[in-house]
Amino acid sequence: MARKKILILGSTGSIGIQALEVIRLQPDDFEIVGLSSYRNEKLLRAQAAEFRVKETILAEGTNLASFIAGIKADLALVAISGSAGLIPTLAAIESGKNIALANKESLVMKGREIMTAAKLHKTQLIPVDSEHSALFQLLQKVPKKEVLKIILTCSGGPFWRKTKEELEKITVKDALKHPTWKMGKEITINSATLVNKGFEIIEAHHLFGFDYEQIEVLIHPQSLVHAMVQLKDGNTLMHYSPPNMQIPISYALNYPNRHKFLLENVGKRSPGPFLPPTALDFFPPQKTLLKGIELGYQIGRLGGDNPEKFVRTNEKAVRKFLEGKISFLEIYTPSFFTPRNNEA
Ligand SMILES: NC(=O)c1ccc[n+]([C@@H]2O[C@H](COP(=O)([O-])OP(=O)(O)OC[C@H]3O[C@@H](n4cnc5c(N)ncnc54)[C@H](OP(=O)(O)O)[C@@H]3O)[C@@H](O)[C@H]2O)c1
Repeated sequence: MARKKILILGSTGSIGIQALEVIRLQPDDFEIVGLSSYRNEKLLRAQAAEFRVKETILAEGTNLASFIAGIKADLALVAISGSAGLIPTLAAIESGKNIALANKESLVMKGREIMTAAKLHKTQLIPVDSEHSALFQLLQKVPKKEVLKIILTCSGGPFWRKTKEELEKITVKDALKHPTWKMGKEITINSATLVNKGFEIIEAHHLFGFDYEQIEVLIHPQSLVHAMVQLKDGNTLMHYSPPNMQIPISYALNYPNRHKFLLENVGKRSPGPFLPPTALDFFPPQKTLLKGIELGYQIGRLGGDNPEKFVRTNEKAVRKFLEGKISFLEIYTPSFFTPRNNEA
């Protein structure tokens, strides 16, 4: 059988590198036809040499969009971080490629446009975010009309139990230490502020078409259950897997198949055991100090250009925090998010 042709956008980042680890295990199944990064030329060259990739580019925006349009691929993995993922995601959809979407910001910013374009160009969007990959799998089991609620879990990040006094003293180093996931800097800070979960609420709304009232979040520090689907008849389906991004990446790359050897391989490297620890804890999210979840609901419901503004202003604030110019709690400074009530 012909190998699946894969284009990886953002191959030098955390998701890109993990995708290459998955592909390394399946040389007979995948052929990498293109790689992109932004600044890391050295790693991009090394990846291209190892996987014999002819088409590579260091670019963003419209230059990257032209590169994408010129490449023939069955699937594009969009693993670019932040708002920079929007143009490449749309370019990949418009050129008719199926999408493995790690870049949640593009869906937050232009969810409606992306879902409409995917429908128009008959491309499949397979989420890579672990919670959305879990929901994508669970929702295949039941008709949508039977679903009462979808529940996203959230590790809580490193600070969800901290007091205001403690949060005021958080350093960049503290915020970059995530308890269960090893990720790029921006998403790690967004996980600490819970803005990442706010983004994921909006992402789930667009991907699966549920109202915000039907989307819940539960803090689950073990990061083993990634999502749940509560049905009208009293049953709840849960998705469980070790906290290792190679699992949802492998799922998205192999979809609709599953790769049988990956699980064994991941087991050796995963931080947690396969069997659940003695307890799986779930708590309602704390909404007062870490405002990311609340902002996600509020801004998602307002719609219009507010979600895009949310992504862009948060991105600037996170950069300032990483540069030591503002404190952790100043990431939420209200002037960054003054929503406009211009559309329901
Ligand atoms: N990491 C995770 O575990 C995880 C889990 C779920 C979802 N996600 C989502 O996946 C996406 C990627 O996250 P990540 O953690 O892998 O990020 P990351 O480690 O920061 O990597 C970002 C990648 O995007 C490239 N890039 C950065 N700015 C760019 C620009 N302006 N134009 C084009 N390319 C650019 C980078 O290239 P250079 O290396 O050359 O700068 C790098 O290849 C994010 O949307 C994140 O929310 C990540």
